[in-house]
Amino acid sequence: MRVIAIDGPAGAGKSTVARQVSTATGLRYLDTGAMYRCVALAVQQSSTDPHDPESVGRIAHDVSVVIERDAAKLNGVDVSQEIRSSEINGIVSIIAAHTPVRDAMREQQRRWIRDHQGGVVEGRDIGTVVFPEAILKVFLTASPEVRAERRVGQTGGDIQAVAASIAERDHLDSTRIDSPLKPSPESVVVDSSNRTIDDVVAEIVAHFEKVDHG
Ligand code: DC
Repeated sequence: MRVIAIDGPAGAGKSTVARQVSTATGLRYLDTGAMYRCVALAVQQSSTDPHDPESVGRIAHDVSVVIERDAAKLNGVDVSQEIRSSEINGIVSIIAAHTPVRDAMREQQRRWIRDHQGGVVEGRDIGTVVFPEAILKVFLTASPEVRAERRVGQTGGDIQAVAASIAERDHLDSTRIDSPLKPSPESVVVDSSNRTIDDVVAEIVAHFEKVDHG
């Protein structure tokens, strides 16, 4: 199965890079963060306590989440905008730490990979847990300052508040018990801080061509 796993912290450039790697390789693109965001939105809409693993796990199991290239659908409704709100940023890492939620999402992600016969899949645990047999694993990172600046460029907001929100998510994502964010030992670590997107994409595509043909 031709899977390129791109993991890394918030704001490292994963979505932009993964989309371009998808275009360059012809492999379909999956944003797994959008899946967790849809569950977070369902939790918010039903006024469920995000800290309650059982209730949140039930929601993750029951909702329909469909991620297409540019659209996220929750129970058939396009929620692509709503899932990017600061409220969702504030709860997504809490709900994503619950094992019942991760079990439900991983099952769907593996099914998506089977159905699409591979893909460029970005997230936090793709190379380490969801698809350890990926033919290329990339850990994409950037300095906290650069990541905060990029997020403000994309979504606006106060730089200090955005930096604090990213730091909080980094902490929750990398210290949770179930599949914490960390580079897999086999991953190529790419620091995008002082590089252009094109340059980073070219490096990843070159790595892919080497493993794909060789
Ligand atoms: O990539 P993103 O910022 O949209 O991800 C939102 C959150 O979802 C992230 O802070 C942690 C969680 N997430 C996860 O736990 N595992 C993944 N594979 C992808 C995202």
